[in-house]
Amino acid sequence: MKAPDQYGVVGHPINHSWSPFIHGLFAKQTEQSLVYRLYDIPPEDFRAQVLEFFARGGRGLNVTVPHKEAAAELANELTSRADRAGAVNTLMLNDHSSLLGDNTDGHGLVTDLRKNLGLTITNDRLLILGAGGATRGVIEPLLELGPTELVIANRTTDRAVNLASLFSDLGPVRGCGFEDVGAESFDIVINATAAGLTGSVPNIDGDVIGSHTVCYDMSYSKSATPFVTWAIEQGCARAHKGWGMLVEQAAEAFTLWRGVRPNTEPVLTALGMK
Ligand code: ATR
Repeated sequence: MKAPDQYGVVGHPINHSWSPFIHGLFAKQTEQSLVYRLYDIPPEDFRAQVLEFFARGGRGLNVTVPHKEAAAELANELTSRADRAGAVNTLMLNDHSSLLGDNTDGHGLVTDLRKNLGLTITNDRLLILGAGGATRGVIEPLLELGPTELVIANRTTDRAVNLASLFSDLGPVRGCGFEDVGAESFDIVINATAAGLTGSVPNIDGDVIGSHTVCYDMSYSKSATPFVTWAIEQGCARAHKGWGMLVEQAAEAFTLWRGVRPNTEPVLTALGMK
């Protein structure tokens, strides 16, 4: 019998990941024969170990913190959305043995915000905290929905300004430091920083949150994340963890790899999100 196809997720750290659970449920639901493992690889070994994974017959990898930009450099070909983002969260070995890099983060976030959480985004004022690989993947699909304004605020101001300039032809996007966001509240505030990994919250003024503001943390954990706790303390309308984005981006990656789209509803239910 043919051995199951090999997939996995590479990050550093990675032991908190629920991706094996999610892809395991997708595989069962769609009757695909595959295994999906965690690979904790530090940045200095990323290139060599990813190439070895594919040389040994691996079929696809998800890529997470802090490797998304390195994965874009490693891929031989990029989908247009990954090229625009300059960040890759999904690698796949295609038929001519070339590594294709895609970015399914934006699809995952937008699908969760719209389909699962019922938000429209059109004509909303949006604030994204962070200017790393996680932010890169979501700017284009958010701008496509026609927000009034998209502000990218980052601890290191230059990174946000530079990132915004890469997308300024697509819509009203501005980059700034945390201190220059302004006092007006936003309709949606998204945390795309890695601050939660160390139990902290971006150092942003609580005025960005009003009683109508919906907050979204791209991080996820079973208990409240530091950002969700903080957002509720500031009096937001509601605050969500990134479970839905995680499941929806995974479904998009699974579809690319296997050519069959899994139903995300039962997986969200299994995770207690429905
Ligand atoms: P990712 O791929 O998850 O985006 P990354 O490229 O390393 O990872 O980016 C991490 C982001 O989290 C950056 O925007 C970083 O801010 P800097 O550009 O100033 O480094 C942000 N970040 C990490 N720790 C943070 C903290 N404690 N407070 C605020 N922002 C933080």
